[in-house]
Amino acid sequence: MRTALIVGNWKMNKTASEAAAFVHELAKRLPASSSVELVVAPPFTALESVRAALGPSSPIQLGAQNLFWEDHGAYTGEVSAPMLRDLGCRYVILGHSERRTLFGEQDDGIHKKIRAALTHGLRPILCVGESLAQRESGKTDGALTQQLKGSLAGLAPQAMAAIVIAYEPVWAIGTGRAATTEQAVAAHRTIREFLAGTWSPAIAKAARILYGGSVTPQNIESLLQSDQIDGALIGGACLQIDSFATIASVAGSLGV
Ligand code: 13P
Repeated sequence: MRTALIVGNWKMNKTASEAAAFVHELAKRLPASSSVELVVAPPFTALESVRAALGPSSPIQLGAQNLFWEDHGAYTGEVSAPMLRDLGCRYVILGHSERRTLFGEQDDGIHKKIRAALTHGLRPILCVGESLAQRESGKTDGALTQQLKGSLAGLAPQAMAAIVIAYEPVWAIGTGRAATTEQAVAAHRTIREFLAGTWSPAIAKAARILYGGSVTPQNIESLLQSDQIDGALIGGACLQIDSFATIASVAGSLGV
């Protein structure tokens, strides 16, 4: 059975001190044990303060929002996988649609980032998703398959075990217009079919696929009730303690 995963992507929000105060409070609101894995992905500048605030035995794990594929060198402004690993990161979000649209990231660069993450023991959370225009012209499956192929092709079966995929339709991000459970399930099936065809049915079955895009305490239950949806990648709703804690406890109570 796949362990459910709830990831809070804070995007460019919270200073280091705000972030530390936030997780300190959040930790108090979570049950002592849960069947769900919880991850927060603060900005780079807050990773150290969040790690210190969580302490060594926290059930909340640390993730980053991006990395650069080289280990070190003359790459002004970039942060590498070994740097993130050294700060205690376990996960890294890669290929987010904001990185693709605002910063010109493409599948070949995302592929290099995935390889760098895997080399240094970070679990990539690869984001894929169609635009509204692609959905409305019936190109959702093609868009998803192309992104998956471009960023994952050539990875060994063992590498696939560490990879989480997040289906984030671009039109649902930050819009308050989440995909319906049916739309999300259909996309997750497409992703699993790609994994089965490219690697094996066993890899497709074991892969954790999250949904992201306007997830709230109100819609999380319906989304997680499908056995195709293994968790959520959350933006806006993870910036408030109440809504993050509620989402975590709903996911925990469903035992997905
Ligand atoms: P929202 O939950 O704010 O729609 O953001 C989703 C997202 O982009 C998470 O990576």
